[in-house]
Amino acid sequence: MRIKNKCGKPTTFRCNAGGRCSMSAVIWSLVGCLLMLHLYSLARHKDEVGGEIQLHVSQHPQFRELVEVEEENIHIPPPKGKRSPRAAKRRPKRPTTLIDEFLDENSQLRNIFFPDQKTAIDPMRDAGNDSFYYYPGRLWLDTDGNPIQAHGGGVLYDQRSRTYYWYGEFKDGTTYHAHKKAAARVDIIGVGCYSSKDLWTWKNEGIVLAAEETNESHDLHKSNVLERPKVIYNEKTGKYAMWMHIDDANYTKASVGVAVSDYPDGPFTYLHSKRPHGFESRDMTIFKDDDDVAYLIYSSDDNSELHIGPLTEDYLDVSDDVMRRILVGQHREAPALFKHQGTYYMITSGCTGWAPNEALAHAAESIMGPWEAMGNPCVGGSKIFKLTTFFAQSTYVIPLPGFPGLYIFMADRWNPADLRDSRYVWLPLIVGGPVDRPLDYNFGFPLWSRVSIYWHRKWRLPLGWSSTSGF
Ligand SMILES: *[C@@H]1O[C@H](CO)[C@@H](O)[C@H](O)[C@H]1NC(C)=O
Ligand SMILES: *[C@@H]1O[C@H](CO)[C@@H](O)[C@H](O)[C@H]1NC(C)=O
Ligand SMILES: *[C@@H]1O[C@H](CO)[C@@H](O)[C@H](O)[C@H]1NC(C)=O
Repeated sequence: MRIKNKCGKPTTFRCNAGGRCSMSAVIWSLVGCLLMLHLYSLARHKDEVGGEIQLHVSQHPQFRELVEVEEENIHIPPPKGKRSPRAAKRRPKRPTTLIDEFLDENSQLRNIFFPDQKTAIDPMRDAGNDSFYYYPGRLWLDTDGNPIQAHGGGVLYDQRSRTYYWYGEFKDGTTYHAHKKAAARVDIIGVGCYSSKDLWTWKNEGIVLAAEETNESHDLHKSNVLERPKVIYNEKTGKYAMWMHIDDANYTKASVGVAVSDYPDGPFTYLHSKRPHGFESRDMTIFKDDDDVAYLIYSSDDNSELHIGPLTEDYLDVSDDVMRRILVGQHREAPALFKHQGTYYMITSGCTGWAPNEALAHAAESIMGPWEAMGNPCVGGSKIFKLTTFFAQSTYVIPLPGFPGLYIFMADRWNPADLRDSRYVWLPLIVGGPVDRPLDYNFGFPLWSRVSIYWHRKWRLPLGWSSTSGF
């Protein structure tokens, strides 16, 4: 894709002030372009003979819609009425920003960030032409008509049942502050699980790992914290392993917890929690590689760096002797990993509590690093949309076999005033897409394919994606 981008960009041919270009330069450039196109088509041909014939996402007619840059301009209304203490405390003297509006439960713009029930995505209602459309930020109902409760979640594709499972924090409880300085929280209810064949219609499979109601010394006691549950399948043991962030209400325990089940839809049995490699662990994710080695990635050392290390063969513990520190001193959290054509990619967020911030993409040839920063992957919306990851925070990236290069970026639009009403922001993530602005991370020639997350008010997966996906 890089090659094609270079050819496609006429600005790389510089003409002099008089507008006359050197004829030989033009000819050589054309020859170069043709040569590169030829190499590109050879490379693509190689992809095809590698296995089943796969449609590269850029060849799909609906690709254009996905990479269209969609602007979104929200105007801040003049101040009116009372500002909530949450917004007032944040920036007492500066003029209001959209982030202040976003954090202000009484903002006149509330409905833009958290649209009301009337606009909910309801797969059971005959949505006509709206079928299969994602509307980032709108309420999203399950097949029973209830808002999906799977925050900070991840999606497992279960080969055995050919079904997608979405796991996340079930937060349908009251938001409160445990004490004056504490972050907004909801007591642990458990891990919610939803199943789907089409990634749009989700059936509630219930709480697959429930809170402990009475035993106060148990990790899952409702007064504690359970965040970012992720599930992977172990081919050798035939079991499903769930990993999650386990903490106390003050976030001082900083541990990971592990649970296991024979079935993707649970129930999961809670095993234990620990500080992996002896270090603090807060935001985390797990990633299962093509060779079935799985890894734990977690924010550590006061969230100043990430640590990565392989899990044991049964996926129920970490191998304590192997760990690398990555993104040291960069203060990143909410990691979401994926792999594309042998290269590892990761999206992370900054650390600003429930407030949204700027995402970064990272890439590595080896999962254990070194990882290099590739800049902000967000495209479209507006400047503030890009600086806030569309007012959301990364949680997972779903691969779509059958469309190499196309992924779904899953993020949470947290609502700290009422966490149960936090929304899902799903957007197309494209590796190797067209260039919309200069690369801000390379030294002369791009080393990695570009990672772009495109803002869309509404979008859908390319038609027929499931039938061509080769499952
Ligand atoms: C769906 O789209 C088609 C073509 O654009 C249009 O003719 C039809 O009226 C639409 N149907 C609904 C229910 O919106
Ligand atoms: C409470 O939980 C702790 C930690 O999991 C466990 O050791 C203990 O046996 C439990 N107590 C009861 C009464 O179940
Ligand atoms: C959390 O911190 C507060 C204030 O420092 C303290 O009163 C409370 O006991 C702590 N709670 C836990 C679970 O550590």
